[in-house]
Amino acid sequence: MAKGKAGTVFFCQNCGNESVKWMGQCPACREWNTFVEETVSKVSYGKGGGLSEGRRAGRPRPSVLSEVVIREEDRLATGIGELDRVLGGGIVQGSLTLVGGDPGIGKSTLLLQVCRNLSAAGHKVLYISGEESLSQIKMRADRIGEFARDMSLLCETNLNEITEIIRCHMPEVVVIDSIQTMYNESVAAAPGSVSQVRETTGVLLQLAKGLGVSVLIVGHVTKEGTVAGPRVLEHMVDAVLYFEGDRHASYRILRGVKNRFGATNEIGVFEMQEQGLAEVQNASEYMLSGRPENASGSVVACTMEGTRPLLVEIQALVCHSNFGIPRRQTTGTDFNRVNLLMAVLEKRSGVQLAACDAYVNIAGGMKILEPAIDLGIILAVLSSFRNIALNPRMIAFGEVGLSGEVRAVSMAAQRVWEAEKLGFEVCMLPAVCVKECGKSSRMEIVGVKTVQDAMEWCGL
Ligand code: TYD
Ligand code: MG
Repeated sequence: MAKGKAGTVFFCQNCGNESVKWMGQCPACREWNTFVEETVSKVSYGKGGGLSEGRRAGRPRPSVLSEVVIREEDRLATGIGELDRVLGGGIVQGSLTLVGGDPGIGKSTLLLQVCRNLSAAGHKVLYISGEESLSQIKMRADRIGEFARDMSLLCETNLNEITEIIRCHMPEVVVIDSIQTMYNESVAAAPGSVSQVRETTGVLLQLAKGLGVSVLIVGHVTKEGTVAGPRVLEHMVDAVLYFEGDRHASYRILRGVKNRFGATNEIGVFEMQEQGLAEVQNASEYMLSGRPENASGSVVACTMEGTRPLLVEIQALVCHSNFGIPRRQTTGTDFNRVNLLMAVLEKRSGVQLAACDAYVNIAGGMKILEPAIDLGIILAVLSSFRNIALNPRMIAFGEVGLSGEVRAVSMAAQRVWEAEKLGFEVCMLPAVCVKECGKSSRMEIVGVKTVQDAMEWCGL
């Protein structure tokens, strides 16, 4: 560890990058004004980390790859299907999982619901809060519903005490809410600082691997940079889940960004209700609710979130610009991508958009960067420009290249199937994907090679 003059180093509060001197901009994550000075001290973890199996027999020795036996991981199903899917089937025994998200998004609520389900199924769980008092937790628990009588709670921030209690009680699952409030006495830094957050997670990691306890850690994403963010410990944990969502909308998306025991990029969709978080079984239906019928500038596209197809409505508003430089704005998708697609439209299809303001929005507050929605964006922009409403029972997907060609996307068949399930009748997709989708009795499949083809078919 690099040390400054008085045993201090500077850490980036956003990504944990370390430096001997203060810097205005972090060279790793490019965030401004995130460096803070912290005192560093050596922490000893004691002997026998318990991470490698060879260690158990005393001195570590290498194993032969061909003789390693794969153990089926023991997984605890949380009883919340959407969460289990993101985790890859449940909580793996002895794993460390980080649940990050903005304050107030519902992390504590979700984990308390997990504790409720697990304790009701007879598992021993311990919910440790450093943020709320017992009565506050009880109030939340009352909103959520009936709890098993023997579920244990603990309000504590001192890691040594927590370690002792875990060793003593041996719960199967421990929730740490939140990592930014916990502190390790042997680290001189304040709770929430980068070194404190890292060292505490390190101790929890030893505990999880050593005792086979599954630990779920809550980490707040902070904007001000006074507290170290969860990104600082992403590399230490087995799985990282982020809670996203619009403050103004009631739905929440739980996104897996790292998972050593399953696929990443899976999402779970929840809705915040009076009685806690409810699973949203049919996310596409949810995203499309309230869609205007027969309005120009509205197109439904299909994106893949992990292995799951999701239908979203793309809205565009194109109107005459009153200024010399037209205004372009996007919500929920990449600004530069939309500009590029509009340039393709101008150049390849001769649509004069240069004097128009354009606003593109993914309805429902989702953020989608997948290029498969390109065709949808193009059709929405055109439909608004010409003021012609498209068939409301149609969906479109496909990546658009710089020559105006419509390129193949992955998992076309799943996308078509999702649209069919929701009662759509026409599906416009890249011509090369038509074969893959097979014949469908209810769905008319329109393969297009270029943007021009798509425009002609829609009469735009
Ligand atoms: P919380 O889980 O405390 O967020 P975090 O731990 O991520 O900071 O969620 C708090 C918000 O959720 C709060 O604004 C109230 C709301 N909420 C409900 O709407 N319904 C409920 O049943 C519960 C428990 C919370
Ligand atoms: Mg909380």
